[in-house]
Amino acid sequence: MIAMERFPEGFHALAPLLTHREHAVLANISVRVGSIGDNHLGGWYAYRGAKAAQNMFTRGIAVELGRRARKLVCVALHPGTTDTGLSEPFQQRVPEHKLFPVSRTVDQLLAVIDTLGPEHSGHFYAWDGQEIPW
Ligand SMILES: NC(=O)c1ccc[n+]([C@@H]2O[C@H](COP(=O)([O-])OP(=O)(O)OC[C@H]3O[C@@H](n4cnc5c(N)ncnc54)[C@H](OP(=O)(O)O)[C@@H]3O)[C@@H](O)[C@H]2O)c1
Repeated sequence: MIAMERFPEGFHALAPLLTHREHAVLANISVRVGSIGDNHLGGWYAYRGAKAAQNMFTRGIAVELGRRARKLVCVALHPGTTDTGLSEPFQQRVPEHKLFPVSRTVDQLLAVIDTLGPEHSGHFYAWDGQEIPW
């Protein structure tokens, strides 16, 4: 018989810090290619699959912790293509205006986070605030 974990391993320590009456945001850095509904190209199986799993954790945690903390916002965020070691091998294919410096990505994600309320919890947003389908 498979044990049904309540939370992903390691999350038990974080959960009590989020279950209170104040506004709080738990934002997971995901990626648009982790969206199943937005997959029109195929490819990138391992990365897409891992991020789809992360997205499912985000949704599940939003549902479970939302019952205990009404003002908690738990979301997945797509940062846009950002100039880091991760994107470096693919940057040649990215138009210059679509490759963000890290500081710009941070500012954009913080701006999105500032707009979020409990009604947004359990959803997936891009760097420009647009919602992405799961
Ligand atoms: N860059 C992009 O264009 C882009 C686009 C969309 C989404 N994202 C997402 O943004 C997030 C950050 O990516 P990034 O671009 O900043 O990549 P990055 O520059 O390669 O940084 C990855 C970070 O993750 C840490 N890390 C890697 N494996 C780890 C492990 N097993 N345990 C603990 N830490 C680990 C690395 O630590 P060390 O430095 O110690 O190795 C590093 O700090 C990722 O979730 C990525 O999917 C990035």
